[in-house]
Amino acid sequence: MISLREYLDTTRCEEPLKDLIELIAYQAIPIREAFLSNQAYAASLNASGEQQAALDTWSDRHLTNVLQESKLVAELASEEQPDVVRFPGATTNYAVVMDPLDGSSLIQVNLAVGTIVGIFGEGGVLQKGERLRAAMYMLYGPMTVLTITVGEGVCLFALNEARQYVLLSGGVRMPEGNLYGSGGIRPDWTEAHTACIGQIEGEGAKLRYSGSFVADFHQILKYGGVYCYPALKKKEEGKLRLLFEAIPIGFIAAQAGGAISNGRGDILAIEPTAVHQRTPIYVGSSGLIRHIEDLLAR
Ligand code: AHG
Ligand code: MN
Ligand code: MN
Repeated sequence: MISLREYLDTTRCEEPLKDLIELIAYQAIPIREAFLSNQAYAASLNASGEQQAALDTWSDRHLTNVLQESKLVAELASEEQPDVVRFPGATTNYAVVMDPLDGSSLIQVNLAVGTIVGIFGEGGVLQKGERLRAAMYMLYGPMTVLTITVGEGVCLFALNEARQYVLLSGGVRMPEGNLYGSGGIRPDWTEAHTACIGQIEGEGAKLRYSGSFVADFHQILKYGGVYCYPALKKKEEGKLRLLFEAIPIGFIAAQAGGAISNGRGDILAIEPTAVHQRTPIYVGSSGLIRHIEDLLAR
């Protein structure tokens, strides 16, 4: 079975980027081990005004320390920290955007959660998604699965009994499909989103929504369809964050032949203006995303 490093050695990645990708990927092991001792909710709020689960803060602190000690990262933006962190002793210009623990409300009910990471080669964290050098997520499910792209397609790796990542599938392509999930509650949906969901349900779309973006997206990557967290009547930018959730997942989706839209156009082309800015998200099969954009434009 091909290891993660053996795969990275077949790509155009430079050595420090391979080291950084492996370093981040293997933090799945201590993060997963921290689930049991971090079941509670903390008393604190994050920069998005959301109550932090203990595992949010534990994962954020752990990853921040590991990245700082590695000297492989010059700049870090985290969903769980108000400001961009700069590491003066860095030996590279890599800039990392991360959601240390996505789906944290599901920790207490033992459903799949994940860690989302995007890496820019240089130029800091406030850049549009199409400039990402690499994007990855670790999905803590029955298996621990790493989904990774370095701009040369998408690969899945799983941790084996020896706690080594081995290739599960390479050259992953997102098919067209009929699964859909949408965040928010129906009374808060805009008329346009409500009509769009009604239309695709009429065309056979089947609901699959767990409350964990990483897990729900992973299902769309495999079977096709769409994950939505739309603009809401009172929150026109929706809930999910551009830097930490939308662009890393969107970059992976695009590398697998899918697409990510804010309902009007490609999210990967958006120039960010604020670290914690939110965006409506429709991410999934490219044909369906185009269909949804047409429906929303009516
Ligand atoms: P996070 O735990 O990083 O805040 O992310 C939670 C996100 C996303 O994972 C999920 O799809 C969405 O919030 C669920 O929101 P609702 O509970 O409003 O459905
Ligand atoms: Mn999240
Ligand atoms: Mn999170």
